[in-house]
Amino acid sequence: SIEGAIFDLDGVIVDTAKYHYSAWKKLANMLGFEFTEKDNEKLKGVSRKESLEILLKIGGKENEFSRAQREELMDIKNNWYLEYIVKLTEDDILPGTKETILTLKEQGIKVGLATASKNAMLILERLKIKDLFDAIVDGTQISRAKPDPEIFLKCAQKLEVDPKKCIVFEDAAAGIKAAKLAGMFAVGVGSLDTLSEADIVVSSLAQLVKELN
Ligand code: G6P
Ligand code: MG
Repeated sequence: SIEGAIFDLDGVIVDTAKYHYSAWKKLANMLGFEFTEKDNEKLKGVSRKESLEILLKIGGKENEFSRAQREELMDIKNNWYLEYIVKLTEDDILPGTKETILTLKEQGIKVGLATASKNAMLILERLKIKDLFDAIVDGTQISRAKPDPEIFLKCAQKLEVDPKKCIVFEDAAAGIKAAKLAGMFAVGVGSLDTLSEADIVVSSLAQLVKELN
């Protein structure tokens, strides 16, 4: 039986995935190459640093920048991203999110958040949902990015729940892989094309709520 539920943030609770995409696209264009929505799937769930590496490879520029320049490129991208983030409000919480979390809690299931983002605390404050979670693990607390299972195992540990009794909600292929490597039940939130490794796939949490009712 399930004792813990772990949520990804970007693309599951709030549609920030589109803002990450816009900011990375802008950076790619600044560097003189195209960056498509299909390319972007490879960046979902992946850390900022790793994302830049993948992006530079797509543009054939993986050998062009020093470490300091890479830091600068990440800052430029993040500043563009933050322009969107500071405008987030409670209304941006995706439909079905609160219902899903509250339903789980009513059943005595502990609820955690596991995100690679270093902007997570800012986003949670904007959405005013920090208190919904029994445990939070963000990008400042982990050393290995998804698909490594570290982030989910750490969250389960904080929740004091056996990883095998956890269910994960994820919109990224890397996140689904990480959840499976952690021995958890993985719910893909999005499309079956990209999330085929998930145990089940729903198009959104709103759809999940609808199906459960
Ligand atoms: C999430 C997103 C990624 C993002 C990563 C780091 O996992 O899915 O697209 O790159 O977090 O986010 P950050 O806010 O720290 O740049
Ligand atoms: Mg995500």
